Amino acid sequence: MKVRPVLRTRLCDLLGIDYPILQSGMGGVAGPGLVAEVSNAGGLGILAGLLLTGEQLRQAIAEVRARTDRPFGVNLLLPDDLRPPVPAAQVPADRMRAVHAVLNEFRRDLDLEPVAGPTPGPPDLVPEALQVLLDERVPVFSVGLGNPGRDLVADFHRRGTKVIAMVSTVEDARAVEAAGLDAVVAQGGEAGGHRSHFTKPPVAEAGAIGTMALVPQVVDAVRVPVAAAGGIADGRGLAAALALGASGVLMGTRFLATRESMAPEVHKKAVLEAGGDATTLTDVLSGRYARALRNAFTERYARSGAPVLPFLWQALAAGDIYRAAVTQKRAEYGALWAGQSAGLIGSLPGVAEVVEQVIGEARAVLTRELPRSVRLG
Ligand SMILES: Cc1cc2nc3c(=O)[nH]c(=O)nc-3n(C[C@H](O)[C@H](O)[C@H](O)COP(=O)(O)O)c2cc1C
Repeated sequence: MKVRPVLRTRLCDLLGIDYPILQSGMGGVAGPGLVAEVSNAGGLGILAGLLLTGEQLRQAIAEVRARTDRPFGVNLLLPDDLRPPVPAAQVPADRMRAVHAVLNEFRRDLDLEPVAGPTPGPPDLVPEALQVLLDERVPVFSVGLGNPGRDLVADFHRRGTKVIAMVSTVEDARAVEAAGLDAVVAQGGEAGGHRSHFTKPPVAEAGAIGTMALVPQVVDAVRVPVAAAGGIADGRGLAAALALGASGVLMGTRFLATRESMAPEVHKKAVLEAGGDATTLTDVLSGRYARALRNAFTERYARSGAPVLPFLWQALAAGDIYRAAVTQKRAEYGALWAGQSAGLIGSLPGVAEVVEQVIGEARAVLTRELPRSVRLG
């Protein structure tokens, strides 16, 4: 067997992994195949649990276990507006009509039937998902957009599950540490996907602190290990994160653009072709602020001035459009979550190659290869 080079941190010791590389849970992207490959490569693969029923989640966990005996994680989003989801009574009919009026313009372009009536909101899946994770004693529970709180963390700890949570401010990092968490993911504003806020902020840029500024602040504020997220796609990023005091990284966009990810071809292709300024922070795709590739959907919706429905109501209202964008390969109407690191990504490797390359590059930077412009006396 090939001997792997060593790059260990206390995050590796905590999670029982070889390399301080976490692959983020990503809805529709991080399925059992991707997760098991990352874990087999020495990192921590994290399964996306969003919008899966308890039975689907149990099945996906079984598939991961069939493919790897290494530690892995399962991710759930625990924001206040999903626990429980915003009820239909709080979604006025005239708002829903105004949303569908704009969406119907996109439907016309895609030859889809117009939608007249109200469309349903998200089901309340969090309680059954939590029960499955507790029953299954998964190695790591990964939380996005929320604070699980002391009692839930204690329940997981009693079953031997480590708990990590992603935050975007120092204040939230302190709050999740106070709940007894094992590690914190500091999510910078460059990150793809949803901003990890407990509550939706009034404007997009609230709490979108850059990774370079956020990570050392979080490292100074908490005692538990910190993983840096947002804008990291190669070994230079890992080395920089370690220099900032982080004990590892969590990468999303880089793992989305791999052969094993479940992301549709149209999404992978758009990421490969995108430059670093191709993304936008918007709530028009799901109801919560998230970073995605700017396209006709995000631009035209924003220009229309139409209201935005609550979290996931908005995503479900536009679900037929997102599906058509995939089947018709029309990237301009897709929900193409991605981070600014898309500008660093131009190939579609396998997961093992990504992990090997990131570790090799980081080791080179950390052991000898300072840029030529730097001289040390
Ligand atoms: C396609 C996509 C889907 C995502 N879905 C989730 C999710 O379901 N849960 C979660 O906690 N974070 C999710 N994220 C955010 C990541 O956890 C992470 O913050 C981000 O990917 C890090 O930045 P990077 O994309 O520059 O690596 C998603 C990110 C992307 C790109």
